[in-house]
Amino acid sequence: MKHTITRKEVLNGADFLIDVVAPGVAKRFVPGNFCVLITIPNGERIPMSIQKAEGDTISLFFKKLGKTSFELDMKKVGDEIYKIIGPMGSPPPIKKYGTVVFASDLVCGHAENWAMCDILRKIPGNHIISIQSFPTSADVYPDKELCEPVADEFILATEDGSRGVKGHYLDVLEKLLKERKIDQVFAGGGIPPLQKISELTKKYNVPVYTTVRQIMVDATGMCGSCRVFIDGEQKLACIDGPMFDGHKVDWEAAISRLTMFKSKEAVAMDCLNEKMKGVK
Ligand SMILES: Cc1cc2nc3c(=O)[nH]c(=O)nc-3n(C[C@H](O)[C@H](O)[C@H](O)COP(=O)(O)OP(=O)(O)OC[C@H]3O[C@@H](n4cnc5c(N)ncnc54)[C@H](O)[C@@H]3O)c2cc1C
Ligand code: FES
Repeated sequence: MKHTITRKEVLNGADFLIDVVAPGVAKRFVPGNFCVLITIPNGERIPMSIQKAEGDTISLFFKKLGKTSFELDMKKVGDEIYKIIGPMGSPPPIKKYGTVVFASDLVCGHAENWAMCDILRKIPGNHIISIQSFPTSADVYPDKELCEPVADEFILATEDGSRGVKGHYLDVLEKLLKERKIDQVFAGGGIPPLQKISELTKKYNVPVYTTVRQIMVDATGMCGSCRVFIDGEQKLACIDGPMFDGHKVDWEAAISRLTMFKSKEAVAMDCLNEKMKGVK
């Protein structure tokens, strides 16, 4: 199977999106699933949230962070990704919740925001509010890639107030929780704000599903790298998640595990930079 890139768009200085042919993943995709990419033979496996599936293609949002995402950014339309595996994970129930808020502040959370809003909005009795927050207006995605088309209400926020409402999604959500009856919150993106959203929703007694994005090595439940503690019980983010009840997550453990491979990641990036010296 050739996983050809059919579209590539730059979203801001660091994020980009691709549409890529992956019929097996596209056919079985349920919002909340993710997939695993191997960009080149012998490359590492990196997990990626799926924004949507249309026909044989899936859409993915990427942030350029380290070696593999930089390698991926070097690919252009018509190039191939070596392998795409999935869909993976156990999405939360797709059902009637009532008034739902999905809040996100980072590339992977934005993909999940789109996917979950899109499916939940189709269920009678749900009213979907999507909040997307970015640091500044320069980071905001092009309008057509924001979640407005898949939500009943859409709130764009920037932390410096340069576009949309001023503040992080946490500020916007707190205002909503004070003023309106919210039945269910979902959140994705950076892990530290997910800990805060769990505390915030607990204060207002509103349930929250959070995407607990842990470092994954095999993403098939074999290595234990992505373990998280839910109500004291060990779970695997790649099999049982990555969306979990935020009120039950051991956030201190989840945050500390994110830095496990920092020194190895820096070495991999140095090697790539060395390799790229002189390459135009
Ligand atoms: C379920 C899930 C869904 C994800 N969805 C997206 C997405 O839609 N878009 C996106 O840009 N990123 C997503 N990520 C994170 C993405 O997998 C990492 O950014 C990627 O592996 C970085 O690889 P790298 O070699 O470029 O950087 P590295 O130098 O390897 O890592 C840079 C940083 O990325 C994080 N990271 C690295 N490897 C992993 C890993 N295997 N799992 C989780 N985090 C990692 C760490 O915080 C690390 O410090 C997702 C992660 C998970 C677990
Ligand atoms: S990534 Fe290995 S068990 Fe989840």
